[in-house]
Amino acid sequence: MSDPHICPEGETIIGLDPLARFNAVLDDARTAHADAAALILLGDLTHHGDVASYQRLHAALRNLPFPVIPMLGNHDRRDKFLTVFADAPQTRNGFVQQMRDIGQHRVITLDSLDGPPYRAGHHAGRLCVHRLAFLEDALSTRAGRHAVVCVHHPPFDTGIAGMDRIKLADGQAFLERLARHGTLHLICGHIHRTMSGSTHGVPWSMFKSPCHQGLLEFTQLNAHLSSNEPGAYGIALLTDNGIVVHSEDAGLRDRRVFGGYGTDD
Ligand SMILES: [Fe+2]
Repeated sequence: MSDPHICPEGETIIGLDPLARFNAVLDDARTAHADAAALILLGDLTHHGDVASYQRLHAALRNLPFPVIPMLGNHDRRDKFLTVFADAPQTRNGFVQQMRDIGQHRVITLDSLDGPPYRAGHHAGRLCVHRLAFLEDALSTRAGRHAVVCVHHPPFDTGIAGMDRIKLADGQAFLERLARHGTLHLICGHIHRTMSGSTHGVPWSMFKSPCHQGLLEFTQLNAHLSSNEPGAYGIALLTDNGIVVHSEDAGLRDRRVFGGYGTDD
């Protein structure tokens, strides 16, 4: 799940209640995919990086049938997050990164939040030498497992003009590192749209947010263009020989499903 942007109680984003939208997606996932090996939250957990919003998120994640792997994005604040998610795995240097082996796959989640210091209005991402050293170690020690790497900020231009101004810094070097290690797949957040592609030989996927969505806007240099399209989340099937990535909208349980050929219902 990408970019839930949980807010303090009573606050909305373009008229949407982020926690209600997140709970709707979570309910769908809990019902349809209770057997999932893990739920990865791809960053921008909260909108303002405040303790109250992390507490609301923490409460929403109680009693899930699968473990949660939280990641940070540009709207998060690491110290505030760790105040509430005190048992979240951290690297030696205090970054919110981890690796988890699931069958024949090693899932590596990175922390691309650029700070502290946190500069007002700065939303681009960064992976410093410490975070890259963790990645290098995770990729080097995986004993033949497929590598699936998750990072909030895309390390490439997406064509969405406003967002490309706040992508991951040094993205080309990062992608070349992933390609050198034969990374199976890269999963990003940040854009709030369903997208896929391949850059520098690394295939990647992105998903809509449970809350507000980004626009397909190739010219306007505005990173805040949003719409109230349905919330969504991604499902990754880790197969013996690769990965299959799906995207599913929230609230589809009320849809009409038609079955069988030769009938009109
Ligand atoms: Fe976001």
